[in-house]
Amino acid sequence: MFCIKRAAVILFCLFFLSGCFRGASEVTVGTESAAESTTALKQPVSTEDGETTESEAETAADVTEEITEAEEMTEAEEMTEAEEMTEAEEITEAEEITETEEMTEAETVPESATEAAPVPPAHNGSAPVPVPGEITYIDGILVVNKTYPLPADYNPGVDRTAQDALWDMISAAKQDGLSLWARSGFRSYNDQLWQYNVYVERDGAAVADTYSARPGHSEHQSGLAFDMNSLDRAFADTAEGRWLAENSYKYGFIIRYPAGKEHVTGYMYEPWHVRYVGIDVAKEVFEAGVCLEEYLGITSEYADATALEP
Ligand code: DAL
Ligand code: ZN
Repeated sequence: MFCIKRAAVILFCLFFLSGCFRGASEVTVGTESAAESTTALKQPVSTEDGETTESEAETAADVTEEITEAEEMTEAEEMTEAEEMTEAEEITEAEEITETEEMTEAETVPESATEAAPVPPAHNGSAPVPVPGEITYIDGILVVNKTYPLPADYNPGVDRTAQDALWDMISAAKQDGLSLWARSGFRSYNDQLWQYNVYVERDGAAVADTYSARPGHSEHQSGLAFDMNSLDRAFADTAEGRWLAENSYKYGFIIRYPAGKEHVTGYMYEPWHVRYVGIDVAKEVFEAGVCLEEYLGITSEYADATALEP
């Protein structure tokens, strides 16, 4: 009798304990993504001899630990994935920037940009008289304006030094969170002829002469000038326009046709047009607050036209 009672008690205990384990397992492996991981983790792994490596009767503590581990792994995986995505995005962005730069660079480099610039003659200190068919240099600076034309067959393409400086400047602006870009650079004599004639057709020669150079008189034919971003006076009041005005000299550029100097340069204010003169000259021009004509002591006047009123 005693044995029967004892056996009954043992059976009852076994039955009760088995229920507890089942309950714990069901509670722990419940919802959320960790449950999926836990389920995967708890799949018994068969060994070569057919045994299982995990006990069927794990405790609730074991399961909780595994869930925590699974959650951590999931988090870690998610972090890694997130990091990888960020890296991937950064790479893609970098590649896109490089592509854009390359495209823009390609657009600004004409095929003819291969010839070296002629060696400049020495300057005797006075304003030189323009010689038809010759390029005018003053103190090593190529001069082209209304007084000093370039030969029609001068076709150097974009100047490589100026172009390198341009890219340095664009990169520096980018570091400051600004988007500078060159919309045009070198223009041949014939390109300028065509463009000038379009403006003359539209506005008449007198007005066109205030903003467009006659063929042979454009700095764009020198390969040393670039038009940045926007051909609109309002560009001066943008972050990029202000940055260009304040910083371009550090890269060897001057704002070639400044506001207030229209009667000297012969052209209306062009906040977008930069001319490469080298860092030393650009710094002096910038700090002196003068235009290139004033700096060099020269005029900019067509023989058959009057200068703009100040
Ligand atoms: N817009 C400048 C003056 C040029 O035509 O070269
Ligand atoms: Zn221009």
